[in-house]
This record gives sequence, structure tokens and C-alpha cells, in this order.
Amino acid sequence: MRDPDDNWFNRILSPLFQHVLIDRDQVMAQSDRIDWDATCQRLTNPTVTYPSYYDQAFHGIKDGYRCTTAALSYDPITQYVLPPNETWVRQSLIDAVTCQPRRILDLGCGTGTGTLMLKQAFPQADVIGLDLAVHMLAVAEDKAQQAQVSLQLRHGDAAATGLPPNSIDLITATLLFHETPPAATLDILRECFRLLTPGGQLLVLDGNQAALRQAKWLMEIFHEPYIREYADGNLDAWFGAAGFGAVRSRTVWGVHQLTQGVKPNPYQRPQWSNGAAVGAVGLGPVGA
Ligand SMILES: C[S@@+](CC[C@H](N)C(=O)[O-])C[C@H]1O[C@@H](n2cnc3c(N)ncnc32)[C@H](O)[C@@H]1O
Repeated sequence: MRDPDDNWFNRILSPLFQHVLIDRDQVMAQSDRIDWDATCQRLTNPTVTYPSYYDQAFHGIKDGYRCTTAALSYDPITQYVLPPNETWVRQSLIDAVTCQPRRILDLGCGTGTGTLMLKQAFPQADVIGLDLAVHMLAVAEDKAQQAQVSLQLRHGDAAATGLPPNSIDLITATLLFHETPPAATLDILRECFRLLTPGGQLLVLDGNQAALRQAKWLMEIFHEPYIREYADGNLDAWFGAAGFGAVRSRTVWGVHQLTQGVKPNPYQRPQWSNGAAVGAVGLGPVGA
């Protein structure tokens, strides 16, 4: 059912259809399949508190992520902003999973593209997608239904999930941290540490911080309020500050970055490399 109050088509998508290769019929069909009011009401957790940094016009959309405009335009645009190919970039995160996870949590899951890939790669696992925007979750739910895949979609703040400690084997966050100020990033990473089972893995896929520092012009065009702070920071160091070990980052297809860490298992010997424990300390910017 089309949202009668939101003129998203005229404002955002119509110009894109004219200038970029976007499948208009597919977007319209998706919008028509979703009963926006009922779905958003059902998905809303009324106890959720929105952090103050979240009240921003992300990507130039007035209501940020909390509207149909953002939810419907996200996938058609994202396919063009993850070069060389969205699926290859996302697959790099799946390929980095080293455990056989029983419970997976995808933080800031948005419209669920990566969440679905996780479920398809680990069909035996319970996969939870968590996001602050119910409109984004509504699209994720529709995509899961279309793919006949079962996901648990949860409305919540990644820094305060309400999930039990030591309950998740694998946590992922794709394209989340370039949208959160560093203090919030650290809060989310500490929450990840609390949630992971000892030995559990954290994987973060996002823009390459070193590359972004060299491309300030790129930061301006996407209306990303916190991307400068993200670029000037250091994910390895943030992981270290939250308690993670075996922290390392690698560049993916030149402009993306995959950072991983492990919650140390007190019953296992730490991994050693060249005589030093693998991990990161300090919070200054370094090359990714
Ligand atoms: C750029 S989108 C990424 C979506 C998805 N992970 C992907 O790979 O396409 C960022 C998402 O993070 C969500 N988000 C931002 N801050 C959050 C927070 N503190 N807790 C949960 N979700 C958050 C936004 O609502 C948005 O859906």
C-alpha cells in the first residue's frame, strides 16, 4: 500500500529514474506490497530511545532513515555506491567468518541485504537484524519474505540492544560506523563485546578510512554528517579500546575496509604474532 502522506516518489526517486538505471517497476511493486502503517506499527518497539546523533537528514532526506523515502531509495542507490559490485563487496564479509555461528546479529541491518546473505550462508543459524529505523526493517521483512528466508528483525539501538550477555557468536555491522559519531561507535563496540560469546567474532565492513581521508570531496556529496570523524578515526584502535583482541583491518576493493576482532576467550591461549599479542591500542588515526 502506497504511503499517502509521503511524496517520496516525486522528490527522490523520480529524478533518479531519469538519470540513473533504477528499476522503477520493482521499486513501485515493493512499495505496494508493504502495508506501511501496519508493518511499522507492528515492528516498533515503543521502549526504544533514539540517540541524539540519529536525528539528522542522512543523505539529504529530511527525516533521515525514518521514512519510506529512505527505505525505498536505499537499495536502488546502494547498488551504485559499493564499487566494483555490491554483492562482491558484501561477500568479503561472509568470507571472513571463521566460526560456525549458531546466533548472528547484524547491527544497523537497514533493508537487510547483508542480513539475508548471512542467513543464506549460514542457514542453520538464528540471524537477527537490528535497526533503529522501522521503515528500513519493513523493507528487510519484505525482502526476506520474497526470498522465503527467516530473519528475526528487531527495532533497537545497537548500543543498547537489550539482548543477553554472551549470547551471540558472530556480530556484523556493514556501512554503520561511517554514520555514527566516534563516541557512539565506541558505545556500540562495547555492547558488541558484552553480547559476544568468549571467542566470538566481530566483523565490520565500511568505507576505507585511509582512502576517505584522501577524498574529502567524496564526503561532501553524500550528505553524511559523521563521515569526516569516521575517516579521521581508526577502527582498529576503537576495537582495541572496547576490549577486542586479534584486531586487524584489510582494504577491500580499494575503497572499502573490513575490520575484524575476537572477544578473548579466557580459557584459550591468546594468538601471538612476532612475540606480541595481536590487537590494537591507542586511538590516533593510522592508515587502514
Ligand atoms: C548506511 S545504512 C546500512 C544498512 C545495511 N547495514 C547495509 O549494509 O546496507 C545504516 C543503517 O544503520 C542504522 N543505524 C544507525 N545508527 C544505529 C544505531 N545506533 N542502532 C541501530 N541502527 C542504527 C540506520 O538506521 C541505517 O539503517
